Amino acid sequence: MSQRRDSILREMGLAPLWRVRGPVDLNEEAGAVVLEPPKEAPPVPPAAVASAPSSALPRPLRSVLPAVTSREPESMPPVGLPATSSGVGELDWDALEARIRSCEACGLCRRRKQAVPGVGDREADWLFVGEGPGAEEDERGEPFVGQAGRLLDNMLASIGLKRGEDVYIGNAVKCRPPHNRTPDTAELAACFPYLQRQIELVQPRLIVALGRPAAQALLTQEIRIGAARGKLFTYGSIPVVVTYHPAYLLRNLPDKAKAWEDLCFARRTMQRLKAEDGTPRST
Ligand code: URA
Repeated sequence: MSQRRDSILREMGLAPLWRVRGPVDLNEEAGAVVLEPPKEAPPVPPAAVASAPSSALPRPLRSVLPAVTSREPESMPPVGLPATSSGVGELDWDALEARIRSCEACGLCRRRKQAVPGVGDREADWLFVGEGPGAEEDERGEPFVGQAGRLLDNMLASIGLKRGEDVYIGNAVKCRPPHNRTPDTAELAACFPYLQRQIELVQPRLIVALGRPAAQALLTQEIRIGAARGKLFTYGSIPVVVTYHPAYLLRNLPDKAKAWEDLCFARRTMQRLKAEDGTPRST
């Protein structure tokens, strides 16, 4: 292993837990390595489709994976339903970011230093969605620049990705919740049209939901990460993979191995999507 890849895996707390199986696609530059997780969640039988309401559906222009779609049991109540929002669906990038920066749709605006719209490649295949800005993000106006952000960068690197290169990073809410508390359902709903529009503009092939609030906002259903991992959900027709939030992983180091499994699953899904689309395989 290269020193760089070693240190990435060490940073994720994974180095001793993984072994290479089968063909290895090494990308030393990006620090990427294709490793099989020791155990993978069993395939989920095809089930119900599209968990997002029709009003939340993006206009996908790219082909998407037709295969496995899953949802939690029907009894779980939907959460994070999108609020009505005047004209957000028509905004271009600049207008959208301006609207987010001046938004007063919920109480989070009162204590923010600034809103944090999102960052990265606006035509990315990968969209990562977090929960909401923390103190450093509130200060700097960019998502995931604090400690959790450094772990996210390492997580990205471990599957050959880099912030800003074919990756867009956004949050379920764009303003910092006081004391970094979890955003409530009303706040998620008020902010959802912005995420919805970002997805329409980026048209990602795959969305990775980081943590429960992001997953619930996107999937409009109650989610437990432990149960949702390893399943492929959909937002409209875009596949969604759910994994732990980096801040959670910083507090629960053993679960980093599970996050690694989830990232490998996401990467394999992306490879399949690209293969089906006829696009040459990279990441
Ligand atoms: N946690 C998040 O969910 N988003 C950020 O931008 C930073 C930390």
